Amino acid sequence: MRLSQARRFRGRFTLPGDKSLSHRLAIMGALAHGESVFTNFSSADDCAATLRCLEALGVESRRKDRRVEVVGRGAESLKAAAVPLDAANSGSTLRMLAGVVAGRPFRTTITGDASLRRRPVERVAEPLRRMGARTSSADGKPPLVIDGGPLKAMHWAMTTPSAQVKSAVLLAALQAEGRTTVVEPAATRDHTERLLPAFDVPVEVQGSAVSVSGGARLHPVTLDVPGDVSSAAFLVVAGLVLPEAFVRIDKVLLNPRRTAFLDVLRRMGAQIETGLDTTDPEPVGWIEARASQLGSAVVTAAEVPALIDEVPILAVAAALGDGELVVRDAAELRVKESDRIATLAEGLRRLGGAVDEHPDGLTIHGRGRLTGATVRSHGDHRIAMAMAVAALAANGETEIEDAGCIAVSFPEFPSLLEHGRKAER
Ligand code: S3P
Repeated sequence: MRLSQARRFRGRFTLPGDKSLSHRLAIMGALAHGESVFTNFSSADDCAATLRCLEALGVESRRKDRRVEVVGRGAESLKAAAVPLDAANSGSTLRMLAGVVAGRPFRTTITGDASLRRRPVERVAEPLRRMGARTSSADGKPPLVIDGGPLKAMHWAMTTPSAQVKSAVLLAALQAEGRTTVVEPAATRDHTERLLPAFDVPVEVQGSAVSVSGGARLHPVTLDVPGDVSSAAFLVVAGLVLPEAFVRIDKVLLNPRRTAFLDVLRRMGAQIETGLDTTDPEPVGWIEARASQLGSAVVTAAEVPALIDEVPILAVAAALGDGELVVRDAAELRVKESDRIATLAEGLRRLGGAVDEHPDGLTIHGRGRLTGATVRSHGDHRIAMAMAVAALAANGETEIEDAGCIAVSFPEFPSLLEHGRKAER
């Protein structure tokens, strides 16, 4: 992907449905009894992988563009897949489906692409074993083999904050005998807790503890999925750092456990406004961003899980400002779709940015400008998109190698960037 500097960036956008919500809706729809209908379902390759894996487990779904109908026949109706489930690049697919099949009386193997096969699965296998499933993996990496069966409820104090693992345990808990409680060491995205009640499953949240009981019957849901806020983050930053910039995004997910990047940008001096339209089952509203001079901020440890996916684009914003952005307590970045601490530092340095790499994070020293160069995505969609926004701000031309991975979460991104830079004043 080749990009030249943009002279301006303006636009109003509505985005395909949130990826985290779409995975969960597809899975819960499959576990329900009856037909669920989701409009504005995510267009991400990751969510297509979830639908394909569910199909391999015998779940019928129909898809026409962004409309997805899932024919739920309850967890009991799932069948052993004839071949290993292919989660492709999607950690959410692998980990959440692991929770679902842990309760089924057959063997399931879940694997994925080369990137996914480098990522840890023991963090999800361990709690599922405690509930009664048997698992094995290749040295803690996929393929993950799960021999499911009757599960018992448990009290689980998680050590690594992970919304995917929390969700896997809660999905397994739906099939377990008794009441399961998961306690989080830090607040991660709470979509599973918010969506289960929409499917008529009672969920109790007390501080950092989430509890569900086994045996509930899920009822189907019809929902228009709000726009993906993690995709919005790339356009918001374009709407801050480019000349004459203005961006408005409507019907976007505004769950506070996903919007911490907006708080950090505001602390850096960004002119960002937001407004809420609805709150049930998830907060949804609009975001406006306009050209701003960005300064310094420190990301606190407590904020990290709520902006972990936005660190790449925050780093680009900081590199174009005149302050310092410090991100620590974020070692999880090293086990995402790429080692994002290393791949980000490499990309920004190639563009002339100043970055200190730490074992658990990064410090970015804003120099107010970047210079076009050839950068690598390392097959990581969020690195590719962060580099693309950097490229629009950089002097000259930038080549982003292996940018096709953008479709993992946001296939429309390249054309929306073009739209924004060509917009009339
Ligand atoms: C996700 C949780 C996060 C995030 C990922 C999506 C989810 O990972 O990075 O992109 O949908 O639950 P963790 O499981 O590490 O929190």
